[in-house]
Amino acid sequence: MAIRMITSRLSHSSSSSLAFLFQGRNSRVAATAALRYTTAAPIAQDPIKPSVNVEYTKLFINGQFVDSTSGKTFPTLDPRTGEVIAHVDEGDVEDINRAVVAARNAFDEGPWPKMSAYERSKVLFRIADLIEKHNDEIATLETWDSGKLYQQVATIEIPMIVRILRYYAGWADKIHGLTVPADGPYHVQTLHEPIGVVGQIIPWNFPLLMFAWKIGPALACGNTVVLKTAEQTPLSALYVSKLLQEAGLPEGVVNVISGFGPTAGAALCSHMDVDKLAFTGSTDTGKTIMSLAANSNLKPVTLELGGKSPFIVCEDADVDQAVEFAHFALFFNQGQCCCAGSRTYVHESIYDEFVEKAKARALKRTVGDPFESGNEQGPQISSEQFEKVLKYIRSGVESGATLETGGDRLGTRGYYIKPTVFSNVKDDMLIATDEIFGPVQSILKFKDHDEVIRRANATKYGLAAGVFTKNIDTANTFMRALRVGTIWINCFDIFDAAIPFGGYKMSGQGREKGEYSLKQYLQVKAVVTSLKNPAWL
Ligand code: NAI
Ligand code: MG
Repeated sequence: MAIRMITSRLSHSSSSSLAFLFQGRNSRVAATAALRYTTAAPIAQDPIKPSVNVEYTKLFINGQFVDSTSGKTFPTLDPRTGEVIAHVDEGDVEDINRAVVAARNAFDEGPWPKMSAYERSKVLFRIADLIEKHNDEIATLETWDSGKLYQQVATIEIPMIVRILRYYAGWADKIHGLTVPADGPYHVQTLHEPIGVVGQIIPWNFPLLMFAWKIGPALACGNTVVLKTAEQTPLSALYVSKLLQEAGLPEGVVNVISGFGPTAGAALCSHMDVDKLAFTGSTDTGKTIMSLAANSNLKPVTLELGGKSPFIVCEDADVDQAVEFAHFALFFNQGQCCCAGSRTYVHESIYDEFVEKAKARALKRTVGDPFESGNEQGPQISSEQFEKVLKYIRSGVESGATLETGGDRLGTRGYYIKPTVFSNVKDDMLIATDEIFGPVQSILKFKDHDEVIRRANATKYGLAAGVFTKNIDTANTFMRALRVGTIWINCFDIFDAAIPFGGYKMSGQGREKGEYSLKQYLQVKAVVTSLKNPAWL
């Protein structure tokens, strides 16, 4: 009953809600079951053919699509089959150099930082409008390239992308400094200025959403950008590059390079003429990026990294509701979320009931072609990630956790994995300490609040947490005690352009989204002017 009430409320709410989850569940009833897994049936049919052509595969430098200097290309694959979708130009050191020259020129000589803030704002609004207009083509490319659910991309992510760009378009002409009451005969003010050329590196789990999180605040503040997409998912950003042109973004302001981390990515991080870096991805690569920045020109770095977020279900929680949210918190996006609720801590008094219901929910999860409406889960992104997740599942079994359901690949083709649930998980098992990044739920038992707070905080990560309780004092205690960048109370994965996001500890540095993101893209200049007339001090 509780879930049904939430369903009706959420299905009318904004794109940042969980509306998709519940819409998906409803529409499932009417859809065919052809490609679905609910009872271990293999995925046998041919994948649905995407209704879009791949038109943009070259590098986007200085407002033009250009060949890579080396002439090299690399394939981008369809995670449903492992087959090649297209060959994409492969950027390397020389291409990064060209892109940085273009961005430098657009910053130093070009119109962008010198353009009025209102004009910049209008360009950002036009980009948002064009992305909204081309929702269908973009969502199709994104699903094809990444295996993400089409319905999720089209109805949740692209509206979020549009919202974030409009949010930062609105900020562009509201960025200003202060007048400072310094001691002495001085007029003191601060100017908030763009940093310059920004290097941005994004991952494959939310390709275009990360693109928007990165370019939105950077451009609103007047910076220029060289962005490297993830090698698994180059297509949606290239399509949007064309829209940047159409929106009237001056050439060189955003440059998009497809390519690999150790080559193009490292070249961007080490470049002496890049003034700042922003990265989303693994904690290990975050460390590499920081050292490349330190060993070149000490450019500042913002990092949004991994997590092992606790999802805590207290003794007074509505169990059915908590089961549904815990399921969503972990399985959303094939479990490929930095903030996935991947340690489900459940109070001992409701543990057995919770495990039973979590297992039943996972068994009902529909897995299949991400283009088919109503499916809740598609394939993992790549064979590497697929193998990594299966390895963690094996380690869970070997370490003595109870495999309640799942535990294996689904079908014989592509990177599909059965929704997997482990109970009797202990804190020191690898499945409870490491970021699995797949559809594997680990359910742990706790006795009291102090104990679970201590255990929840005993990790190198600090990205997010969920708490389910009806008691406001309990909620207030957890809110302050958990060392994480975001805490969701009686909800999970609520993202909005205005809400800051980032990690404590080794989950990152700095914040994205909201007003907080602007700070990462601005320099503060103090201007001190001598006052000559003591009568007006
Ligand atoms: P990764 O962190 O290596 O890749 C993310 C981005 O960094 C890609 O664009 C990649 O090309 C780039 N990159 C890699 N090495 C680089 C280098 N030396 N210099 C500059 N850029 C570099 O992540 P990967 O290998 O795709 O996935 C490994 C694990 O990372 C996943 O299993 C998951 O645990 C975690 N991950 C976390 C994400 C998050 O949202 N925080 C997103 C993707 C992965
Ligand atoms: Mg791909």
